[in-house]
Amino acid sequence: MKEQILALLEQTVTRLKEQQVIAADFTPRLQIDRTRDKSHGDFASNLAMMMAKAAGKPPRELAQMICDALPESSVIEKVEIAGPGFINFFVADNALAGQIKAALNDEHFGLKLPARETVVVDLSSPNLAKEMHVGHLRSSIIGDAVARTLEFLGHNVIRQNHVGDWGTQFGMLLAYMEEKRAENTEISMALSDLESFYRAAKGRFDESEDFANRARELVVALQSGDQQCLALWREFNDVSLAHCQEVYEKLNVKLTRDDVRGESAYNDDLAQVVADLEAANLLQEDQGAMCVFLDEFKNQQGDPLPVIVQKKGGGFLYATSDLAAVRYRQNQLNADRILYFVDQRQGLHFQQVFTVARKAGFLNDNTKAEHLGFGTMNGEDGKPFKTRSGGTVKLIDLLNEAEQRAYDLVKQKNPDLSENELRHIANVVGISSVKYADLSKNRSSDYIFSFEQMLSFEGNTAPYLLYAVTRVANILVKAKDIDFIGSELQLEHDKEIELANALLKFSEVVLKVAERGTPHTLCTYLFELSGIFSSFYEACPVLAADNDAARDTRLQLSVLTERTLKAGLSLLGIETLERM
Ligand code: ARG
Repeated sequence: MKEQILALLEQTVTRLKEQQVIAADFTPRLQIDRTRDKSHGDFASNLAMMMAKAAGKPPRELAQMICDALPESSVIEKVEIAGPGFINFFVADNALAGQIKAALNDEHFGLKLPARETVVVDLSSPNLAKEMHVGHLRSSIIGDAVARTLEFLGHNVIRQNHVGDWGTQFGMLLAYMEEKRAENTEISMALSDLESFYRAAKGRFDESEDFANRARELVVALQSGDQQCLALWREFNDVSLAHCQEVYEKLNVKLTRDDVRGESAYNDDLAQVVADLEAANLLQEDQGAMCVFLDEFKNQQGDPLPVIVQKKGGGFLYATSDLAAVRYRQNQLNADRILYFVDQRQGLHFQQVFTVARKAGFLNDNTKAEHLGFGTMNGEDGKPFKTRSGGTVKLIDLLNEAEQRAYDLVKQKNPDLSENELRHIANVVGISSVKYADLSKNRSSDYIFSFEQMLSFEGNTAPYLLYAVTRVANILVKAKDIDFIGSELQLEHDKEIELANALLKFSEVVLKVAERGTPHTLCTYLFELSGIFSSFYEACPVLAADNDAARDTRLQLSVLTERTLKAGLSLLGIETLERM
């Protein structure tokens, strides 16, 4: 609907240019917005105000000229001029029906797919030395939701799990693996809890000089490609990645071992990166370290900030691997767009990496690189989420607790469910509650994690939406013997029209999520759609409608509502239930 009206406006502008009302080289940015109050029509445009100055006419007068020049269209029933010169469009009801039919008959809901791009999505990317903690929830699920949305729109999405699998802490971990092996401890057992393994290794490092020396030796051996050392390192990473995989499966995040391309993958390229920066005249030595100084980034004293790419001793840094990664994504993966779902606090790092990469020619001018940062997940005290004793919370423990709480809740509400069904529902409700609570918040703000809130059946929560889906599904189950899908759509009741309009908004929202990386806009939409469906259902009996035509219309609206809710939730990586 929106695209059609925009196309009409575009033709109108061309006509006005022909009539020399505005200059031929003046190109206004065409925009229409949905109105809040339906008595003002369905869409409003401020085009007259935007062109008034260029046309040298009062906005209301120009608005009238626009209306006069507007091509005939079956989509629009009438236009009205309001206030200082807004043009309000009233969409014809039969046009609405046509669009609903089109959406019902199309797997993309009638959406016009954008030009196909190759989009690299950097997501999850935990450090393998430790277990995934709550901070990795956001990078995994927000990245996954946006990746799914881009795939839905037909883009070529390449997921990259840029895990931290290299660096000095591995010396300490490998030294401790050696010790454990010498004691005949099964390595996979010792690594079953990475958190305690890391702590124990650190303990040994701090208490024993010999151990610390061995750890340092192993770092050097690892870096110089010693085969035995590499084998040990691979073994460690395998176990750690298996832990991650378990979390991804529980979370229903689409990531596999094939998506892993960690920091270590760029090792062999790091010296070349530095050499190429040198060749591009970007490198400067500062106190023995190799740096790129950018005028774009200054410290509080106004001096340019360095991006360090090689330390005094020769070691490379986080920024160096990111420069190698960005070049790989550009040249090998042929990215048109690269998205990074990483904590907001790394904002400066990414701005610097992107700037250096562009100057060095690692990143083409027309390739978009975007850091889509996110805020912190806080506890109910408003401080970063911690265990009662102040430790970091393992993601897997948090998910298990959510499932347990959902189990208790569902059992209490529905004591007659079989144990199997109860487990399944608890799993879906628990996990989707954690995910939805996170995805529904504006990505860039911090948020407070509260089991109580996320598991509530009221408000913008997963249980509310999952329940809404089962309600629509229920109606449709009861109608399974009715042949309604081919019937004509007759949108008459206000609530039918409101629901139809809300359903058609889905495509706009999906496009927005893909463009801005904001799953919360989809959550808000699905929540509103559920509310609109509820009030439609209250006002418009479906199976008990007065006549078959009304019943069939309402059933078709229900089908599209069910499909839209399910599709929306699946873009968010959220499973739905048949009953709960
Ligand atoms: N491993 C890093 C961390 O846990 C995140 C990596 C994000 N991706 C990147 N390309 N730098 O903080």
